[in-house]
Amino acid sequence: MLERKTFHKTLIYSGVALLIIGLFGAASMQARASAMSDLVTQGRQIFRFDTFGDEDFWGEQLKLHQAIEGEQFGGVGPGVSPTTALSVGLKVDVKALPDSLKRQLKKGQVDLNDPAVTLALLKLNAVVGVTGFFNSDGSLSSIGIQCALCHSTVDDSFAPGIGKRLDGWANRDLNVGAIIALSPNLSPLQTLLSADRDTVVAVLNSWGPGKFDAELVLDGKAFNPQQVTDGVVTGTNVPGATLIPPAFGLAGVNLHTWTGWGSIPYWNAFVANIEMHGKGNFFDPRLDNAAQFPIAAANGFGHIQTPEDEDLITPKLPALHAYQLSLLAPLPPDGSFDPVAASRGDALFEGKAKCASCHVPPLYTESGWNLHTPAEMGIDSFQADRSPDLMYRTSPLKGIWTHTKGGFFHDGRFATLLDVVNHYDTLFSLGLTNQEKSDLVEYLKSLGDVPLQTPKGDD
Ligand code: HEC
Ligand code: HEC
Repeated sequence: MLERKTFHKTLIYSGVALLIIGLFGAASMQARASAMSDLVTQGRQIFRFDTFGDEDFWGEQLKLHQAIEGEQFGGVGPGVSPTTALSVGLKVDVKALPDSLKRQLKKGQVDLNDPAVTLALLKLNAVVGVTGFFNSDGSLSSIGIQCALCHSTVDDSFAPGIGKRLDGWANRDLNVGAIIALSPNLSPLQTLLSADRDTVVAVLNSWGPGKFDAELVLDGKAFNPQQVTDGVVTGTNVPGATLIPPAFGLAGVNLHTWTGWGSIPYWNAFVANIEMHGKGNFFDPRLDNAAQFPIAAANGFGHIQTPEDEDLITPKLPALHAYQLSLLAPLPPDGSFDPVAASRGDALFEGKAKCASCHVPPLYTESGWNLHTPAEMGIDSFQADRSPDLMYRTSPLKGIWTHTKGGFFHDGRFATLLDVVNHYDTLFSLGLTNQEKSDLVEYLKSLGDVPLQTPKGDD
């Protein structure tokens, strides 16, 4: 009897103990989930608003803020009006605008040709990816840029160029080169590139919308002497800038950038230090290769050191990474592709067209070392040769419908998805019929992770 009672007690005790463990377990899981969502929220803030101290470059050195405010506010030149800003692809976050201003805009009561309005928008923190720093008299003292400048756009819900933020989307309207070329002082770039102002301006203006040359300040190679596609010369002296890729749909992808420089946190540190000119630490001895990266090697770009208390980049890398991983690729809107043709295209993608041998669903790149030689891809090696592995990275294709402007492949050499499919048909002798090619295109247009929506928890 006694034994039985003890047994029961033991059962009850262990039941209670399990319950307690279970409750604690759930609580700690919840704690972990909320720590993760805090990290994502912090990362969003950094992605949208953090300049990493880069105003010391864009403002203090290049004096870009003086060109934006114009003579009227103590700067230089005519200034940048909202009309000009929108025409070079800058975007305005409608959520940052007060209702009174929205009403005036709707009624056409705002002078969009007045640089003072641009300053007002900057003061409201409404220009996506750009932060103005102000003097007490309302003029600009400096200007900094953020990741969102190139990797966000807006949904145009208010007016063209004005709407809700779409983080992770490539801004293919943004003419980065034309914006930088406005800078009154380009001497930091002239020194790096050993070139005069006119040459630097000509290079910057060669990029065009949706492109940027991340390797220019490493190797100084501004133009691809000969673009070759499937054995045919398809261009000479083609600008070396590459298309801005999306920053969504990247979870699970090993190597990033068109040429596979490294992981997401690798590239985030690279960009924040070397391209944006923020203040941080960066280590990559591959940049010491003076034959391949003469400018980077001479300037020690692979060994950027900033003391811990002045490092505005390294502590932010975890949150930035978490945020990027949280950005899923949007599915296309209904009616933007033919679902029946897309499902035939799906079968071709995995079968006859052999696309899935490299673009492995659901990553649409290889799990593992996702690079291929220029010869395998049937294209010239110019851009691949500007990267450590001399290869091209298999593009993750999800959400490709969001970045059809500017073309496809790293330099946009294929104007349409059909041109891309035709290239593969030639390269791999696939023998695709016209119907099959168009089915593949419909399939490509259908790819994405989640329905299009305003980013979660945005309010
Ligand atoms: C001036 C425009 C610009 C800014 C600002 C910028 N990027 Fe980029 N980003 C690019 C371009 C262009 C590439 C492609 C570079 C290449 O392949 O050489 C790229 C590539 C990337 C990639 C790789 C995407 C892929 O497909 O694998 C990630 C991730 C990324 N950027 C994140 C960031 C983050 C985070 C920031 C802020 C710290 C940032 N970028 C700032 C233009 C920009
Ligand atoms: C041998 C591996 C491989 C195969 C097979 C392959 N791709 Fe690709 N794909 C790549 C690489 C690498 C790139 C990047 C090329 C570049 O950046 O210049 C790419 C780029 C693309 C792009 C452009 C992405 C962008 O953002 O511009 C599309 C679209 C595409 N591939 C579709 C396909 C289709 C459709 C097939 C089948 C007919 C296919 N690929 C077969 C490796 C491959």
